[in-house]
Amino acid sequence: MKVQKAFERCIELSFTIAIAGKGGTGKTTISSLIIRGLLERGKKPIFAVDADANVNLNEQLGVEVEKTIGAVREDMLQKVGVGEMPAGMTKEQYMEYELQDSLVEAEGFDLLVMGRPEGPGCYCYANNLLRRYMEILAKNYPYIVIDNEAGMEHLSRRTTQKIDLLLVVSEPNPISIMTAARIRDLAKDLKIEVKRVGLVINRVNGEQPEILEAETKKYSLELAGIIPADTAIVEYSWQRKPTVQMPNDSISVKAVNKILDKFLA
Ligand SMILES: Nc1ncnc2c1ncn2[C@@H]1O[C@H](COP(=O)(O)OP(=O)(O)OP(=O)(O)O)[C@@H](O)[C@H]1O
Ligand SMILES: [Mg+2]
Repeated sequence: MKVQKAFERCIELSFTIAIAGKGGTGKTTISSLIIRGLLERGKKPIFAVDADANVNLNEQLGVEVEKTIGAVREDMLQKVGVGEMPAGMTKEQYMEYELQDSLVEAEGFDLLVMGRPEGPGCYCYANNLLRRYMEILAKNYPYIVIDNEAGMEHLSRRTTQKIDLLLVVSEPNPISIMTAARIRDLAKDLKIEVKRVGLVINRVNGEQPEILEAETKKYSLELAGIIPADTAIVEYSWQRKPTVQMPNDSISVKAVNKILDKFLA
């Protein structure tokens, strides 16, 4: 998407999908396959947000990141502190410019990378500005996909935006499913506005769907989908190939597409 146009458009009804779950459950892989599925359906442009301090969604999307929001925030704090704003620019204009500049533009999607969280210091002003501009920016896209880190706290701090679909990813075992239910509860406690929650059970390797379904029901969770353990994902990972480029007939791509069929009218 053309950067200079980004603040001029305004889409009122964007659909936001957030992917959460414990470390290593497959959030980033599933985020990239969701983006892949949306692109395939022509549901674009997509605003992809890597909200994990441990930046890596870009690798699975096959794009390079030059600047993170964390770096913009540090820079802003430093420049305001020593009075080094570029001549003729207000803090607001500077932040807007920097935010646009940190967007990675790709075919059908733009990626924003949050990067590391703030260090000690007073970041409220920078954070408030960031939040405001991110919300304005997000309005340009009909679809938003957020790859989260395990916790949900940063979500509630960073945005007041609603989430249409929260997908909590778990492994196919009772402890992991219980942990997923806790993450759902945490989102509720944090008063994040979530319209629908779905559990995604990933890396399923022979476990019976009926048992997984019964365990899911125990926590009043909706089973969004089951994704098999896929050797193609393992191969792509070792070959450093972006999962977004996986073929249509791979079992995990099909499983993620089924989830999209279920939740996208
Ligand atoms: N369905 C699957 N089949 C096979 N391998 C998978 C599958 N899903 C994920 N993986 C592999 O599991 C590992 C962890 O996946 P991923 O990085 O997506 O998890 P994550 O939840 O984002 O991790 P983190 O919490 O570190 O951000 C990766 O090596 C990935 O290739
Ligand atoms: Mg990840």
